[in-house]
Amino acid sequence: MASRILILGCGGQVGWELQRALAPLGDVIALDFDSTDYCGDFSQPDAVAHTVRTLKPDVIVNSAAHTAVDKAESEADFARLLNATTPGAVAQAAKDIGALLVHYSTDYVFDGTGDAARDETAATGPLSVYGQTKLEGEQLIQQSGCRHLIFRTSWVYAARGGNFAKTMLKLATDRDALKIIDDQIGAPTGADLLADVTAHAIRQTQANEALCGLYHCVAAGETSWYDYARFVFEEARKAGRELKVQEVSPIPTSAYPTPATRPLNSRLATTKLQQAFGLTLPHWQKGVARMLTEIL
Ligand SMILES: NC(=O)c1ccc[n+]([C@@H]2O[C@H](COP(=O)([O-])OP(=O)(O)OC[C@H]3O[C@@H](n4cnc5c(N)ncnc54)[C@H](OP(=O)(O)O)[C@@H]3O)[C@@H](O)[C@H]2O)c1
Repeated sequence: MASRILILGCGGQVGWELQRALAPLGDVIALDFDSTDYCGDFSQPDAVAHTVRTLKPDVIVNSAAHTAVDKAESEADFARLLNATTPGAVAQAAKDIGALLVHYSTDYVFDGTGDAARDETAATGPLSVYGQTKLEGEQLIQQSGCRHLIFRTSWVYAARGGNFAKTMLKLATDRDALKIIDDQIGAPTGADLLADVTAHAIRQTQANEALCGLYHCVAAGETSWYDYARFVFEEARKAGRELKVQEVSPIPTSAYPTPATRPLNSRLATTKLQQAFGLTLPHWQKGVARMLTEIL
């Protein structure tokens, strides 16, 4: 049966891909912070909750967030409003109208110690305002009692907009030497993959409520920012792109201080998601190579 689906944060990396992936599921209403017909501005929790109660969607997919990790350190109240308070208000409204809420969270809810992949039961311990407020958002959704799916993901990229690969390609075109962090380990995950998994998961959860819950959703394999960049340069050169860079050196996180502390170990175990929904998460290199084909 076709559903009425509300996408919030539709102009972001994931939001844009959701508009494509969810279209076959039903009637999609996509809102961003500056939408005029209905309020999708996450700095106004009551107004966004009012939008939900007015539109009465069967499914709400929230990809709006304060994702500027370093900036969040100096505007914690605003980050909390966007990442926790408003998702909490949306969850309350979802509970009232009986909608399924899909939401995204992050590996930054963890402290990144050790080198094992964390599953959904692992203890959290955010190191940054972004991580802390995203964790609070998860908790408010869980406490609301609404039917929900929360997908924790990492290192999201998309062909549209800026991303790490594009920044590296620009730097490699302009400079002879680059230093890149090699002690943060994670999995670059395509916004397109997240959106496609979301579509499958919504369909299955609508048929089986027991699937509601928290899941880790990242591409397979792992890498460092240093090896990720080297893969991008290799693919770019294979595609005939001329790069000036000759020397690419690994550096530790400690050599590149930022306002927000990032976890060193961003590995997430995805067995729960793959088993629950019968899905296979492809290797990160496949998705990045595809994105590069689109942008090069
Ligand atoms: N990006 C990552 O590496 C990453 C990693 C782990 C988890 N996640 C999570 O994945 C989800 C999607 O992230 P993404 O990569 O798609 O992020 P994104 O591209 O930054 O998208 C976030 C969206 O939220 C919008 N937004 C900003 N302020 C808003 C407001 N006041 N009201 C409503 N919308 C507002 C942004 O609009 P503007 O673009 O106009 O500001 C943008 O459309 C988020 O929950 C994020 O926390 C992301």
